[in-house]
Amino acid sequence: MSNTFKVTLRPSGEIVEVEEGKNLLVALREKDIYIKSSCGGHATCTDCIIKIVSGEDYITPPPFSELKLLGNVFHITKERLACQTCLTGDVTIDITKHDKATDEAKLKNKTANFSKKKLPTRIRKEPDIKKIRTERADERAREEVENLVKAETWKKHWEKNQDSEAPKKLAGGKRPKFFDTDKVDYDKTDYTRPLSAEKQKLRDERLETEKLKAENDKKIQPSDKEYKKFRE
Ligand code: FES
Repeated sequence: MSNTFKVTLRPSGEIVEVEEGKNLLVALREKDIYIKSSCGGHATCTDCIIKIVSGEDYITPPPFSELKLLGNVFHITKERLACQTCLTGDVTIDITKHDKATDEAKLKNKTANFSKKKLPTRIRKEPDIKKIRTERADERAREEVENLVKAETWKKHWEKNQDSEAPKKLAGGKRPKFFDTDKVDYDKTDYTRPLSAEKQKLRDERLETEKLKAENDKKIQPSDKEYKKFRE
């Protein structure tokens, strides 16, 4: 046999017994105590919110579906969804906002207004209908002609203006740019770009090696005198 716990209801002061593992929405409804609910206990409407007055250590922790709706603020609001709360001990809860009479009156008001509201019905006369139809047909015909003209203009556009000397358009309407060398003054322009430190180091090393090699070659080369002597 499962345990039962006492639930004291505020503001009535009524005490009811609730079985372990049964959520408060179901348990209280079984005892004919009204708790509002629109989603039927699926944690999507937040209508079944109740306030825990005391015994917050004796309720089950909120599942993810409840946290998604109410956030992780129980320590401030002390509010829980009745449909997601089970008990592990005696508690006191406040269900002041669950008033059956008020909710029923609200609902009645809503439905009464809805049935009274008459949507305006527009009834068009025969000549008006004909006029609208002709206008629509004309519009469609005009659109068809425009589309045909558009398609014709686009067709083989690359074959048009074959003789033109203008550079051909590239995709995106861009034209190839030509490098105009006539405008460059080579004497005045400095084309040496600054190198990165690493590249500069490699360049210096290479220059140094080339210099040493040139000096060595010079030493090895026989002088003109020696060369003449050798020939004789
Ligand atoms: S009944 Fe809808 S959230 Fe609890």
